[in-house]
Amino acid sequence: MGHTIEEISEQRLFIGRISGCPAFPITLCKIGYKKHLQGNKKYVHNARNFLYIIVFYVLLGCVVPLSFAGEKDKIFWDKKYETESYIFGKETVEFLREHVDLLPRGKALDIAMGEGRNAVFLAKNGFDVDGCDISESAIKKALDLATENDVKIHAFVADLETYKLPKNTYDVIACFYYLQRDLVPQMKEALKPGGMMIYETYTIENRELGFEGPKNKDYLLKPNELLDLFKDCKIIYYRELVLNNKKAVASLIAKKVN
Ligand SMILES: C[S@@+](CC[C@H](N)C(=O)[O-])C[C@H]1O[C@@H](n2cnc3c(N)ncnc32)[C@H](O)[C@@H]1O
Repeated sequence: MGHTIEEISEQRLFIGRISGCPAFPITLCKIGYKKHLQGNKKYVHNARNFLYIIVFYVLLGCVVPLSFAGEKDKIFWDKKYETESYIFGKETVEFLREHVDLLPRGKALDIAMGEGRNAVFLAKNGFDVDGCDISESAIKKALDLATENDVKIHAFVADLETYKLPKNTYDVIACFYYLQRDLVPQMKEALKPGGMMIYETYTIENRELGFEGPKNKDYLLKPNELLDLFKDCKIIYYRELVLNNKKAVASLIAKKVN
């Protein structure tokens, strides 16, 4: 396990910040574009119009790399999953296996499902499973794993940085070894009332203890952070620990109460 999204994390952080651009610079950019189309030479004597043009070019420089970022992540993960073997294995994570009986049966979503080890396990346990991932190779392998196990899952490619989760749809959402903090509000909205979240990923201790896994602290949970992220839900189970002297994780099961 490990080596999750650290290699793309710096870029993701940049994107996260930029994507929060307020309307003001966009308006400036629009005006700048108009001036640009009109031929900027005759405007440069005017300081305000000069500023519009500068803002236009600066934002253009940000937006172009942004539109390629999702594609870059896709290529990165596709390459990782290209091999015939299942890099994260075919067996579900222990935390899910041990606690599946606590989860309400119905429709489940596996967030960033990878090669489908958890989605297929949920399907084998009677859930109607949706699973998404940015990597097409992962999705293909997940579907193969489902066929191998004689179950059906609905697996689809989605970039979770832009994909909008449907509201009030799922009885269970599973998220394993993927941390995108700004997705948490959407995860809660996507749960039906009474629905449950099951989540496990690395803590900062994983890096401190030198275990394999992401090194960028933005992809590592701080102490009690996962608990805090779901504090408006009913916490059914929470732990932070080192597992088998191999990885440090936080694990949570939380119920949407309203
Ligand atoms: C460490 S793997 C975990 C996979 C799976 N949850 C598991 O436990 O086997 C992280 C997954 O996040 C996916 N991922 C990374 N960035 C993503 C994004 N922006 N949108 C959707 N999936 C993404 C990767 O393709 C990869 O499959």
